[in-house]
Amino acid sequence: AGLLIGSGAVKAGYFDDGRGPNYLDDPRFRDVLSEQFNSASPENDLKWMFIQPEEGEFDWDSLDRLVEFAEEHDMAVKGHGLISNCCNPDYVRAITDPGELRAALASHFEAIMGRYDGKIDRWDVVSEPLEVFGTTLQQNDWYRVLGPEYIAEAFRIARAADPDARLFLNENMVEVNAPKRQALYDLVVGLLADGVPLDGIALQMHQTINGPQPGVITEMVESYHDLGLEVSIAELDVHTYDPVAQADIYGDVVAEALAAGVTEISTWGFTDAHLYTWLPGSKPLMFDEDYNPKPAYFAVRDAL
Ligand code: XIL
Repeated sequence: AGLLIGSGAVKAGYFDDGRGPNYLDDPRFRDVLSEQFNSASPENDLKWMFIQPEEGEFDWDSLDRLVEFAEEHDMAVKGHGLISNCCNPDYVRAITDPGELRAALASHFEAIMGRYDGKIDRWDVVSEPLEVFGTTLQQNDWYRVLGPEYIAEAFRIARAADPDARLFLNENMVEVNAPKRQALYDLVVGLLADGVPLDGIALQMHQTINGPQPGVITEMVESYHDLGLEVSIAELDVHTYDPVAQADIYGDVVAEALAAGVTEISTWGFTDAHLYTWLPGSKPLMFDEDYNPKPAYFAVRDAL
């Protein structure tokens, strides 16, 4: 496969539960998505509370719809959010027995990865294991019951559920936080030393007005390549109201990431339309509210 140019944050379901509009009902959204991108990933629809809201009761509609759309338009789908810090339903949060939680993870992964076998071939198995501004593991629902081993266990369960899939660990802010960058690297080295089946690192790459220092992405990507891992940019966006500064950051990140050999450049959505960005009120994306390309779009196009 060639380079994936993707949009994450696609909501395909719909929804009176706070998840907002169903983007795939919007013809302009569908057109830009299929014309400009060759990959997509669900925004929230794969997160546990939405896809298995009650034990053993799966709600496949949203993800099915996204996968069908992608098939029609010859696009790939990334499975974002098998495990996240948020979004666990009460019945999962109530589990205190490690064996029971392991079994819940296994049946969740098997059901989802089995259903989309051959249709979704890469997954964010664990997202944001580290504290947002720190260097230690988040004490999330998985950690509380399984301890730090939850990460290794999740990857092993995922590998068993789909031996052919590419398995990613997703993390944020490492490009702008040197101690966290080191902590992620150390975590990954430890996982690999234990034989954990990890194929790649998904760098979220949400930016503010201060993008990463030149050279940081290159160094990071090379360090993971040296470990035999793939690196992707999974959720790029730039949260600033200055469209020119924004375009510079988009262009610089994409140019450096491509030169370093990433396999995917995905943004977290693509239109600034109301309720189509993940931080309400901000205009972080490459297309404006009316789906017109912004300077960021041209900067990215020039960098490709
Ligand atoms: C965000 C969604 O976009 C929001 O709709 C939701 O309320 C919270 O999660 N990093 C991630 C994504 O990996 O899962 C997050 O998605 C954005 C930050």
